[in-house]
Amino acid sequence: MPRDVRIEEAPKFVGEEVRIKGWLYGKVDKGKLQFLQVRDGTGIIQAVVFQNNVPPEAFEAARQVGQESSLILEGTLKAEPRAPGIPGGYEVEVKDLKVLQFVQDYPITPKEHGIEFLMDHRHLWLRSTRQWAIMRVRATVIKAIRDWLDSHGFLNIDSPILTPAACEGTTTLFATDYFGQPAYLSQSGQLYNEATIMAFGKVYCFGPTFRAEKSRTRRHLMEFWMVEPEMAFADLEDCMRVEEELVTYVVQTVLRERANELKVLERDTSPLEKVEPPFPRISYDEALEILKEAGEPLEWGEDFGAPHETIISLRFEKPVFVHHYPTKAKAFYMEPEPDRPEVCRSVDLLAPEGYGEIIGGGQRISDPNLLEQRIKEHNLPREAYQWYIDLRKFGTVPHSGFGLGVERTVAWICGLQHIRETIPFPRTLGRIYP
Ligand code: 4AD
Ligand code: MG
Repeated sequence: MPRDVRIEEAPKFVGEEVRIKGWLYGKVDKGKLQFLQVRDGTGIIQAVVFQNNVPPEAFEAARQVGQESSLILEGTLKAEPRAPGIPGGYEVEVKDLKVLQFVQDYPITPKEHGIEFLMDHRHLWLRSTRQWAIMRVRATVIKAIRDWLDSHGFLNIDSPILTPAACEGTTTLFATDYFGQPAYLSQSGQLYNEATIMAFGKVYCFGPTFRAEKSRTRRHLMEFWMVEPEMAFADLEDCMRVEEELVTYVVQTVLRERANELKVLERDTSPLEKVEPPFPRISYDEALEILKEAGEPLEWGEDFGAPHETIISLRFEKPVFVHHYPTKAKAFYMEPEPDRPEVCRSVDLLAPEGYGEIIGGGQRISDPNLLEQRIKEHNLPREAYQWYIDLRKFGTVPHSGFGLGVERTVAWICGLQHIRETIPFPRTLGRIYP
């Protein structure tokens, strides 16, 4: 009896009789020899169907079968250095073949398609090798994040998605009706993390995040995934140390475990190999100097736009921390610097190669009176934040945390032009199909 084998495990079963279940990715017809490229979700392998080796109906099936037909084949697994595939170097000498469904006119062909066409067919596009490689990197990024946090004393405590108030400003809220009361899809779990660290010390939440960003850029999604670690008894410097350790672990894990996928993406991995602590740290003021030199001056107090981040991040080979932004440019909860309250203990991490911000975070206000004052200045409804103020009344401590956007991180690691390819079903401005 042949054994069921998934293509990524092929190297372990050379010389054995195997059964592979998958879909036809491509085909070369050489008369009595049919070379099928078969994918099964874990890789692509060449299946050689020789007329003399298989029953006549199996050979006929191999001749007829079209792209994305579903099939099951059996045969001998061989090492063959010339065989294309992912990882490549293996082929199946087919002894039998059954086609579950003969497919004709699969809409996504090897020729070029426009992006709108591909987005309309996202449910099928995910089968193509590029998209497949990106999703495999994404899964590894997520797993590496969890592994690192779980093994460094962070407890996974998830935060709610339906929330009564804003975390990151009221202009990007998705509103919904909660039995006659307004509710909003969560922009960030941070405020809840600040409650749970007082119960568990170090926590992280990891979930979908929603921002009604009316911007059509290469780095904005309406729905994205964010991991948010938060730590009690931690200041801005502690926060940066955790960020650089975590990001380094994620990048090194992808380099080690997803080399085939990075090859499919034609990613030059040399910039990624340089990612290791410590990351350079510059202040907002120093960043303004860089912008001035580059001929893109920005007025003090303004937040960076994507082009500014690109200029700054291109100056460094590693991810770079920009800290101490102007207080008025950042969220209401940021701790002001005591000797210079016009700047706050905030930090963004900008990915190199022009990618820009992948992490936002910093130290939170721990004084209840200052927090109340900020809530007032930002015109936020006090009642909705009563519980959050409470946290500063019952055992307040200095604390810090950050949010890392999964999609922007994947875009950087994979070397992609646009964030829309980093999530299975992207929600962008004007698109919620499929
Ligand atoms: O800088 P942001 O808005 O920070 C927060 O939400 C904090 N409350 C996090 C915290 O301290 N716990 O978002 C954090 C990260 C960004 O650096 C970016 O990677 C990602 O989330 N992000 C987006 N990704 C895709 N599309 C969008 N519209 C995004 N907005 C933010
Ligand atoms: Mg930010």
